[in-house]
Amino acid sequence: MMGKLDFNNKWIVVTGASSGLGEALAIKLASKEGANLIIAARRKEKLDSLKSRIQSEFKREVIVIESDLSDPGSVENLFRESTGKKEVFGIINNAGMTDFNPADIKDFEKYEKIIEVNLKALIKLSLLFLDYFKKKGEGAILNITSMGAFFPLVYQAAYSASKHGAQVFTEILSKENKNKNITISSFAPGGIATEMLSSSGLDKLRGADDPFNWSAEKVAKKAISSFKRKKLLSVPGLVYKLGLILKRILPRKTLLYFLEKSYRKK
Ligand SMILES: NC(=O)c1ccc[n+]([C@@H]2O[C@H](COP(=O)([O-])OP(=O)(O)OC[C@H]3O[C@@H](n4cnc5c(N)ncnc54)[C@H](OP(=O)(O)O)[C@@H]3O)[C@@H](O)[C@H]2O)c1
Repeated sequence: MMGKLDFNNKWIVVTGASSGLGEALAIKLASKEGANLIIAARRKEKLDSLKSRIQSEFKREVIVIESDLSDPGSVENLFRESTGKKEVFGIINNAGMTDFNPADIKDFEKYEKIIEVNLKALIKLSLLFLDYFKKKGEGAILNITSMGAFFPLVYQAAYSASKHGAQVFTEILSKENKNKNITISSFAPGGIATEMLSSSGLDKLRGADDPFNWSAEKVAKKAISSFKRKKLLSVPGLVYKLGLILKRILPRKTLLYFLEKSYRKK
């Protein structure tokens, strides 16, 4: 596959499209790239209203698949239903959740869900679609990770662990499948002003108006641009790019010290 990816008239699956970054990715793909979409999440009513908006404003086709990605059966169903209905060209594994508290056994069920959605579902869908794309001879996978895939985010241990896993899995999968006409990319943003901030309580530390929390639209634009350029890893924002360099130099203990201070609840 030479040159940039072209999504025009292609079917792209976007998970976690009922809010935040996933919704912004779906809108950008339809409005700027001419893609048709298969959108998935648990909140069907939100997906239905996004479908209506995309169909009326951008004249693209949209299929809604209600799925709970913490349920392995629902993950397989998303693959079967989407590939059964349309010839899928790409998938963006964007669905994710966090918990912002000191790690504690009483919250283990929450961590299981985080691992199911952020890591297990992402691995399973990447592999199912990779197999399908191999048979088709083309395809593209974008996995949304996080700065938490590189930094040990204190007070979000399960989230950060799941994102580290998702990042390394994606990089290895890409290496193992070079020259197969299949793009496998990752995108690791810093803070985004989405529901994730309020649902986790992170907004009490840095609100949606904090300059470090970018808008979902701005982040989606960067994600699609780097996906089209088939980047193995893209990190939006100079401050985070510099952060990654600093991370290589600083001792782990120092890094943990600063991250604990920065995420300590007031
Ligand atoms: N916000 C940030 O600061 C930030 C920073 C770095 C990376 N990210 C990553 O960006 C991605 C999108 O997050 P966001 O900020 O846009 O958060 P968000 O607004 O809370 O959106 C999360 C999406 O994931 C879906 N989701 C959650 N649990 C699910 C489940 N069990 N089954 C199916 N879908 C599920 C949600 O849909 P339903 O609730 O309808 O199921 C929703 O559409 C995530 O992977 C996140 O880790 C976010």
